[in-house]
Amino acid sequence: MNAFSKVIAVSVAMLSSAATLALDLKQGEALVNERCSACHKPGVMGAPKMGNKADWEPRAAQGYKTLLEHGMKGLNGMPPKGGAVDVSDEVFESAVTFLLQSAGVLEQAKSGKAAPAAAKKADPKPAAPAKQETAVTAKAMQSAEGKQKVKPALKFNRLMKSAEEWNPPPYEDGIHDPEGEGAYALQPPKELFESLPKAPSGNRVDWVKALEGGAITPRYDRTDPSKQPFVMDLNIVREVKGFMPDVVYPHKQHTEWLDCSNCHPDIFIPKKGANQISMAAILMGEKCGVCHGKVAFPVSECRKCHSKNKTQPVGIKQ
Ligand code: HEC
Ligand code: HEC
Ligand code: HEC
Ligand code: HEC
Repeated sequence: MNAFSKVIAVSVAMLSSAATLALDLKQGEALVNERCSACHKPGVMGAPKMGNKADWEPRAAQGYKTLLEHGMKGLNGMPPKGGAVDVSDEVFESAVTFLLQSAGVLEQAKSGKAAPAAAKKADPKPAAPAKQETAVTAKAMQSAEGKQKVKPALKFNRLMKSAEEWNPPPYEDGIHDPEGEGAYALQPPKELFESLPKAPSGNRVDWVKALEGGAITPRYDRTDPSKQPFVMDLNIVREVKGFMPDVVYPHKQHTEWLDCSNCHPDIFIPKKGANQISMAAILMGEKCGVCHGKVAFPVSECRKCHSKNKTQPVGIKQ
């Protein structure tokens, strides 16, 4: 780690002294479009947006050298070299130059307080952090603390979380590796889910409606785009003792997504009434709970399953 940051420090010093060399902006542009744009186009985690002068101006005020150094070493959500550790320092620098130029702040950065010439002597100590950086870091820490204070409503159920925790972006969801670039290239769910039918719980999307209304057309088979599901329209009514409405299990909505073998015979014996199902089992993640509360709407949506009102008035026995 230490040796690594030393190497970076040295190469930053060398780079700055070579900053007057003509850089190949075409290469920089290509790198920006290929790699940097994953974060700098949408503005992931507060990354200054490509071509957005307002985003870049306060950063340009730090001076070219500081900007380049931050880019090389990384800064908060900005990984060292923007994750492009395989490219040469020159190409990386030209990408930074391209970003600054396309935002119209290249001149401003170059004439900034930390002029490249001043950095000619290799200074092993990192430059004193500029005000901007301190402010950003403090803000990032504050929001990190804020996040920790939010207590999930029910930890056992992944989809029953407080509002702040719904649909985190891939690099924060604990499923994707935040070190991998792919996690930043993936579209954040919140962005996409905006356009889909809403649900009050789970990941806030009514997937049944989304499929029925044609808002999504998922492939049934990963390898064969022409394969269609075998949809079976068969409702199974499970009478529930006591006050709760009866449960209607619909084969139709399930077989639009799932293969018979997803449930039969491992989860359910395919025979009406042959399976013992209880709420306790479901809440423990068995039976319907194998999926509901994990990859399908959660158990809090009582009425979606308990959808058939009893014909007898509650409490009256004949
Ligand atoms: C994984 C997301 C991500 C990628 C990929 C990425 N950046 Fe960034 N970048 C950020 C974030 C976030 C910031 C803002 C950091 C902060 O100020 O907290 C940033 C800031 C910067 C800054 C300004 C630093 C400063 O001192 O204000 C530069 C320059 C920069 N990036 C260049 C690049 C270049 C060039 C690439 C491609 C080679 C790249 N970035 C790729 C996320 C990314
Ligand atoms: C999401 C889970 C799930 C999927 C997928 C599924 N089933 Fe079922 N199936 C059930 C449940 C639950 C029952 C009711 C079992 C009970 O009442 O104990 C059932 C019952 C049945 C029954 C018994 C009907 C009766 O009247 O006795 C048959 C036959 C059946 N399924 C066939 C299929 C076929 C064929 C497919 C694929 C096209 C399929 N199932 C897909 C969950 C599923
Ligand atoms: C994913 C579907 C589903 C959801 C959501 C659901 N239930 Fe159930 N529930 C069932 C099934 C299936 C049974 C078993 C019916 C039977 O006896 O065959 C059941 C049974 C019950 C029973 C009967 C006693 C027992 O524990 O088996 C009660 C009471 C009950 N549910 C209450 C609720 C309440 C309250 C909610 C909302 C917080 C809820 N359920 C949400 C599917 C569901
Ligand atoms: C193998 C996974 C799986 C199992 C097991 C499963 N479901 Fe589902 N269920 C789904 C998926 C996926 C959907 C569609 C997505 C969604 O609504 O979240 C769905 C949808 C439904 C719907 C349709 C809701 C609507 O909006 O029309 C009902 C009702 C339902 N499930 C009840 C049950 C009941 C009752 C059981 C247990 C007897 C059960 N499911 C077992 C995966 C499953």
